[in-house]
Amino acid sequence: MDMNIINGRVWINGNLEKTSISINNGRISRLTNQDNIQEADETIDAKENIVFPGFVDVHAHLRDSKFSYKEDFSSGTKAAVAGGFTTVLDMPNTDPPITNVEELNNRQKLARNNICCNVGFYCSPINANDINELKIANAIGYKIYLHKPFEEQDLSDKNLIKIMKKIKENNGILAIHAENHELFDGIVHTIESEIQAIKRIIDLAKITECKIHFVHVSTKEGLDIIKKNKIDLDISCEATPHHTILNTNDIESTRYYCEPPLRDKENQESILNSVIKGEIDMMATDHAPHSVQDKVEGKPGFSGLEITVPVMIDLYKRDKITLERIYEILVWNPIRRFGIKNRGRIKEGYNADLVIIDENKEQVINANKFFSKGKNSPFDGMKVSGSITKTIVNGKIVFDGKDIIHSDMGNILQNQVDFQ
Ligand code: NCD
Ligand code: ZN
Repeated sequence: MDMNIINGRVWINGNLEKTSISINNGRISRLTNQDNIQEADETIDAKENIVFPGFVDVHAHLRDSKFSYKEDFSSGTKAAVAGGFTTVLDMPNTDPPITNVEELNNRQKLARNNICCNVGFYCSPINANDINELKIANAIGYKIYLHKPFEEQDLSDKNLIKIMKKIKENNGILAIHAENHELFDGIVHTIESEIQAIKRIIDLAKITECKIHFVHVSTKEGLDIIKKNKIDLDISCEATPHHTILNTNDIESTRYYCEPPLRDKENQESILNSVIKGEIDMMATDHAPHSVQDKVEGKPGFSGLEITVPVMIDLYKRDKITLERIYEILVWNPIRRFGIKNRGRIKEGYNADLVIIDENKEQVINANKFFSKGKNSPFDGMKVSGSITKTIVNGKIVFDGKDIIHSDMGNILQNQVDFQ
C-alpha cells in the first residue's frame, strides 16, 4: 500500500464511520477496520477529524495566459486544494477566450503538469457545428454569457437554438450566465434582468430539450421560475457563497462588486433557505480573482476557492445545514450533473480525492494569505469554525494544512459519462 489514513470519521453512504482507508496507485484500494489494515509506506493519523470526498467546484476562473497577473493554473489550483477542492471546472472567459477546438486544446496543453487538482474545461462555442469536435476535445460543458457575448458570437434566439440542439445531440450541458444586458440599469445589474434571461432560456430549453445549468442564481423570483420548470425540463442551478450569506447591507465599497451583484436581505435569505432545503442543486465558488488595480477599476468578482468550504462547515457547526446537504451541493450533484467519472465517493476503486476537515478549528479568514493571486474577498476578517487540515489528490497529499506539497497531481478531466 502507498498510504493508510487511520483514526478518521469517514463519510461513507451518508454517515461518518470509523474506518481506515488504504490507498494504492492513486485509488482507494480498501476500507477496513484498523485491526485488519495492511502495511503502507505512509500513514496519516486523521485525529478524529472528518474525512470527506474532495470537494468539486463547477465554476472557477483559473485565468492564466494574458490574465496571469490575476491568476494562473498554478496559483488557482493551489487555492483550490487549500480550500478543500480536488476538482474544479474552469471558465472560458479568458484572454484569448475559449471559443473553439484550437483554443480548448491550447488551454489544456498549458494546464498539463501545472495543476494541483483535477480540472475540467468549459468552452463557449461560437459555431454550433464545432460542438461534436469540442466533445471529442474533452469540453466538460459549454458556457454562454448572455450579457457579454464574445466577439463574433451570435446570441440571437435562432443561433442559440442551433447551439442548444447540438449540445443536446451530444448529451452535453449548457451553463448560462443569466443576465439580459438590455435591461441593465447603468452598472447595476437589475433583478429584472436576471428574471427575463432565465425566462428566455427556459423557453428555448422547451424547444430544444437541452440540458441547462443556471450559474450563480441571485434572485428569489429567478429561483422560483427554475424550481417550477424543473418538473418538466432538464435544468439545474447553483448559488455562490456570497449570494447565499451576504447582502447589500454588508457591502461597504466597490471592492465588493460582483456580477450578478449582491442582492437585498430578502433575496439573499431565499437563496440561503433554498440551499439549506436542497432546492438549489449546487454551491459553486465563482472564484473570480482580480488584481488590486482591476478592482479599483470596477472589475466584478471575488476569490472564492479558499473560503467556500470553511464558510459552509461553519454553517454546519451552527446547525444551519446538514453534512449530507453539504455533500450533495459541493460533491455529488456536481459530479453527477457534469458526468465526472470515478470520483466523489469514498469507495473501493474510486480515485483517492479526499479532504480532512477539522470542524472545530476556528480561523479568521485572511485574504492576504490566500494562495490565489486575487486577494479580494467580502469574507475577509470573518471568523469561522472549520479548517482544511489535508487535501489528497489522486492518492497524494497536496496540501498539509499549511503548505502545498505537490503542485502537479491534477488530471485533466476526460469525456463525460452518463449518469442515470
Ligand atoms: C466573473 C469574472 O471576473 O470572470 N466575475 C463575476 O463577478 N462573476 C465573470 C462571471 O462569472 O460572470
Ligand atoms: Zn463566473
